[in-house]
Amino acid sequence: MPCILQMTDLHLMSDPAGTLKDVCTRAEVERVIAYIREGVDAGRWSFDQIVVTGDLAHDEQRETYDVLRELLGDWLPKCKLLLGNHDNRPFVREAFPDLASDEPDFFTFSCRVGNWRLIGLDSHIPGEVEGLLGERQLLWLTEELRSHVGQPTVLFLHHPPFEVGSAWVDALGLRDAQSLLQVVAGVPQVKAICCGHVHQDREKRIGDLQLLTTPSVVIQFGVDSPEFSLDFIPPGFRILDLDGNVFRSEVVRLPE
Ligand SMILES: [Fe+2]
Ligand SMILES: [Fe+2]
Repeated sequence: MPCILQMTDLHLMSDPAGTLKDVCTRAEVERVIAYIREGVDAGRWSFDQIVVTGDLAHDEQRETYDVLRELLGDWLPKCKLLLGNHDNRPFVREAFPDLASDEPDFFTFSCRVGNWRLIGLDSHIPGEVEGLLGERQLLWLTEELRSHVGQPTVLFLHHPPFEVGSAWVDALGLRDAQSLLQVVAGVPQVKAICCGHVHQDREKRIGDLQLLTTPSVVIQFGVDSPEFSLDFIPPGFRILDLDGNVFRSEVVRLPE
């Protein structure tokens, strides 16, 4: 049964001591990766694919992506990366030429894992916090779904296409969320859309389609909060088990 690891919102900085809301992001990412590696070594998990859904870097520094490369280490061949609002597309392309898509304007992926298809979308708009896929990318997605018709599929992107109930962050969401949902409406092979950006574990169901957001591996935002707030709970990640036509998913948090 294929098993996927989703990590999101690393907010790495070139300065190893760099902090975000008083949390050293480099140390947190290292702690989470060490915890996952321990679990893999102990036989608790085995991942066929690792998807990192954006806000890879926080400081828009080219060398921060080299830090990420080093942290991912021997995981790289099974990694797929996506951009968040804090990222820099040319820098990501430069640091990860092996993971870049052919399309120069987007950093997307489409791959097969077992009998499943994983598709990654690029919602980054340079200089903006909000996200956008745009018509051209949605056309690409439509074609990708059509050419793998009937193959159970999970979509990944940084900005969630649904409101999570926190007004401040919902105002910074995916501008063309409705267009994305229209593309996948009536395409029952799309089972789930997994996102980051909101630094919290939320979900919404539309018919058989599961929409999910995953905690950050560094800091957590308050849930159902009209204004920006932090939640002081441990960081986490998501595991997706893909079984036949059905997927199971759980958020794992580090111990307190
Ligand atoms: Fe983030
Ligand atoms: Fe974000």
